Amino acid sequence: MGNEVALVTGGASGMGRATVARFLGRGFSVVIADLNREVAERTLAELDAGDRVRFVHTDVSDEARFEAAIGETVETYGRLDVLVNAAGVGGAFGPLTEIEADDWDYTFDVVLRSVFLGTKHAGRVMRAQGTGGAIVNFGSVGAFAAGAGVQAYSVAKAGVQHLTRIAALEYAPDRIRVNAVAPGIITTPLIGLTAEDLKPVLGTVQPLPYAGEPDYVAGVVSFLASDDARFITGEIVTVDGGMIAAGPQLGNLVNNNPALRGLVGVNRGSTGEKSSVHRTVDVAGGTR
Ligand SMILES: NC(=O)c1ccc[n+]([C@@H]2O[C@H](COP(=O)([O-])OP(=O)(O)OC[C@H]3O[C@@H](n4cnc5c(N)ncnc54)[C@H](O)[C@@H]3O)[C@@H](O)[C@H]2O)c1
Repeated sequence: MGNEVALVTGGASGMGRATVARFLGRGFSVVIADLNREVAERTLAELDAGDRVRFVHTDVSDEARFEAAIGETVETYGRLDVLVNAAGVGGAFGPLTEIEADDWDYTFDVVLRSVFLGTKHAGRVMRAQGTGGAIVNFGSVGAFAAGAGVQAYSVAKAGVQHLTRIAALEYAPDRIRVNAVAPGIITTPLIGLTAEDLKPVLGTVQPLPYAGEPDYVAGVVSFLASDDARFITGEIVTVDGGMIAAGPQLGNLVNNNPALRGLVGVNRGSTGEKSSVHRTVDVAGGTR
């Protein structure tokens, strides 16, 4: 531990950048592979980690360029232990009846094809090294339910999450672990919302009452890339403040029914046994 080498796609901004900072804190050498040169150069200056971090200008949907970025990583730092596929865009917006097929394809190229390309070429390098490795992909809560993200993006993220399991199976004999995080709403430039903007969903749609910050997800990525996660592969870790756990929140609907508010006890249905539901709790939760 300490002299490992990671390549982080989308490492110039948001959760990718927070992941780079985590890895640098653990003594890694890191390559940021990103399309946005200006933001990447600013990030490099702010991280101030000398020659332990460098930027390679890359479009991760382009196979030759992604393969070249992996090659440059090995040339510069001598090996590759960790690949984090964090690059992403919102992609095509609008009703399915209006989405241009080219915009749909662009979304899939950046969100899903890129993860396949990285998995393919990093897998080759890690396998040849013979010392195992870790790949961590970025899925999304949008992959789990239709109401959690825009269409093309959500379908592509579902692909990323399934590719994670497929790759975990294929790479297990080489001790290369492949996992994913599925973030909820995180305050990054991609969604452009602040903690203040998110107030209406905090403690409601998202049960935890504080906004998701990039470092909360980066901490999980860092764990999945570490030896502490040595027995975890093919796993999708949801990091969403409880949104998916809350699900459709039908409980809210029931609690909104005044007839059911404040009832406690047990309903034994049609068993013939006595139920004991009675009214002892007021709406605020105090006993009467
Ligand atoms: N922010 C959220 O709420 C949220 C939720 C779920 C999943 N995600 C996913 O998390 C990941 C990180 O997103 P973020 O919110 O930190 O976004 P961000 O916009 O802050 O960072 C994404 C980075 O990816 C880079 N990038 C985009 N297309 C690229 C390409 N073709 N080649 C190379 N680099 C490219 C961008 O230049 C940018 O630096 C993405 O995969 C995103 O889809 C985000």
